[in-house]
Amino acid sequence: MSTYPSAPKTITIPSDASRLPMTLPRLVDQYRRGEKLVMVTAYDYPSARAAEAAGVDLVLVGDSGAMTVLGYDSTVPVSLDEMLMLAKAVRRGMESPFMVADLPFGSYEVSDQQAIETAMRFAKEAGADAVKLEGCGEMAVARAKAIVQAGIPVMGHVGLTPQTATALGGYRAQAKDASAAMALVRGAEALEAVGCFSVVLEAIPSVVAEAVVDRLEIPTIGIGAGPSTAGQVLVFHDLLGIREGRGGKFVQRYADLQDAMDQGVAAYAADVRSKAYPAEQHEYAMDAAEVSALQTALEDLPAKPL
Ligand code: KIV
Repeated sequence: MSTYPSAPKTITIPSDASRLPMTLPRLVDQYRRGEKLVMVTAYDYPSARAAEAAGVDLVLVGDSGAMTVLGYDSTVPVSLDEMLMLAKAVRRGMESPFMVADLPFGSYEVSDQQAIETAMRFAKEAGADAVKLEGCGEMAVARAKAIVQAGIPVMGHVGLTPQTATALGGYRAQAKDASAAMALVRGAEALEAVGCFSVVLEAIPSVVAEAVVDRLEIPTIGIGAGPSTAGQVLVFHDLLGIREGRGGKFVQRYADLQDAMDQGVAAYAADVRSKAYPAEQHEYAMDAAEVSALQTALEDLPAKPL
């Protein structure tokens, strides 16, 4: 029996794997039909292929990639060029999911023009369908508005916003008192008002998420925000167990790939050291006549200088 209660016993690729690419109108239709939206992060070609094969609706090239694939301590140091490289690899790996790229810290805060230029790079160079930015204060709302007006769809992100986690007192649940919750509701409404097509709600009490869901027309995507949101997002490495430690309280693990990778590499190292690998089946053969010609040619070589 699977260790993961909700994991399917066999991997099945959805029958509509040849489905049409997800678009904003299709997302809205799915939301209005009450069908949950599935979003997962991806940072490279293989994770994008997995998202495509699983038939997810949206893929986020999250700046969590700063930690999961680039090894930084937080999302703060990752550069725009590094994020673009990840986004381009994801684009090469999938066709159907709607691709959202995270604007990294420092790439949109300075001015509306900076925000538009950064968003344009994700759209033009990486083929992103939309960008995501964190926060719902005056600056974030203004940047979201500017990017939407420039013609690029924007996803908002409120609650725990990792780029400013230090200012929020660390990686902890947000909006836990009524006034902070009201500020969050108002902020999410402001993002909707300037044209965001969706908002991520991260690490907030379920009751606050319900209030946001009730107040907004656009779909919300939750991560640690309970069941009421239109969709859910998880970090690829968290859900597959490609990490040390368990991650946030809200993480549900569906595999232990870090263990599988560690064991696989250890088994390979042991086989090389014991000379069990490579075995005969891994070798390339040569015709006997060619072997004999090679031996003659080698014998004819001048002796190696001492
Ligand atoms: O970067 C990321 O992975 C995110 C999700 C947690 C929403 O922003």
